[in-house]
Amino acid sequence: MNRFSIADKAAETPFRELVEQYGSPLLVLDCNVLRQRYRALQDALPGISLFYAIKSLPERSALAALAAEGANFDIATTGEIELLRSIGADPAATIHTHPIKRDRDIRDALDFGCTTFVVDNIDELAKFEAYRSSARVLLRVSFRGKEVKSDLSRKFGCDPRDVPWMLTQAAVLGIEVVGLSFHVGSQSANSEAHVEAVRACRDYFGDATLAGSEHLRILDIGGGFPADYSGHGLDLAEFCRPINEALESYPEHVRIIAEPGRVLSAPSMRSISTVIGRARRGDATWYYLDDGVYGAYSGQIFDHVQYPITVFCDAKSVSAGVLAGPTCDSIDVVLEDEQLPALEIGDLVVGAMMGAYTLASASEFNSIPKPRVVAIDAPVQDSENVSLLLAEA
Ligand SMILES: Cc1ncc(COP(=O)(O)O)c(C=O)c1O
Repeated sequence: MNRFSIADKAAETPFRELVEQYGSPLLVLDCNVLRQRYRALQDALPGISLFYAIKSLPERSALAALAAEGANFDIATTGEIELLRSIGADPAATIHTHPIKRDRDIRDALDFGCTTFVVDNIDELAKFEAYRSSARVLLRVSFRGKEVKSDLSRKFGCDPRDVPWMLTQAAVLGIEVVGLSFHVGSQSANSEAHVEAVRACRDYFGDATLAGSEHLRILDIGGGFPADYSGHGLDLAEFCRPINEALESYPEHVRIIAEPGRVLSAPSMRSISTVIGRARRGDATWYYLDDGVYGAYSGQIFDHVQYPITVFCDAKSVSAGVLAGPTCDSIDVVLEDEQLPALEIGDLVVGAMMGAYTLASASEFNSIPKPRVVAIDAPVQDSENVSLLLAEA
């Protein structure tokens, strides 16, 4: 799939119908895609409990669809807890993965019923002394993936060599450490970093010389599973195979969990925006959309992703064109240096693979509202009977 493609005008019809019904711009969430992705990942990671990382797409209908599939949830904030509360999710199926928390954050999570937390340093561990009878912790270890889009181990995770010392400190404080966690970084190009981290953590499980080692029974392999933005046919099972192989060396009593976000949410959403103006500037025609990098395309800035974009036109001739967002900021450009067909004001532009870290990082710069979310929901077995659910972003 190229980043940019031109489809026949007739292909615009379903998107036009949505815009006529719900307005523009829109983010259209297909809950069926989310379900299919969840099932595909679960098949690719057999026996591993999946905790969906809410941060990637904090959208109620997405959470409800995943909860119905049996997903667990990775929460990082009280706001995410409130989202889960609103869909009646089971608190026992959650972990709190933010390595840095205020006391209030811990209390909010415990009040909700979440009892497993991630820590990565001694100050954070000490915060749990007051809650040692009700909370247990995972120790997050830093392993830096070399080929990731977003390196998270720069900001979080303790040095692997500090694990024995942290376990000793936890034992002194009377805090139960139930396992280790890592996140190799988001959008991994391959699974080498996961495999390396899985292997590096193995030594700590079953090492009777470590303080509290008898409690270690969870390995959390984090997120980082990639989405297929380029459309070159990323094989999820193939990506996960070496990870599963590396996990075979773990004792049977160790529960393996993962915190996937992007791999589930990215393909589940498309954006629909409308050309609201155009101008000839230099050699190029600029088309101004009602959505841009401060809205649904925010991931181009924050998440370093170039989303596949489609316009609809029967004319074959193309010339230099730019797709720009609606704000007054000059960085608000969605696509440039591209050969575009002549678009009209009112034409639609559709972005694909826009579920992960798009709505999540969209803002209301210039007081322009975020795109409205329309959730299309139908159980996988009942895809004929598609119903539309509306949600305000
Ligand atoms: C702690 C944690 N878990 C899971 C995720 C989800 O990662 P991904 O979207 O790469 O699967 C993130 C992303 O930032 C994270 O910080």
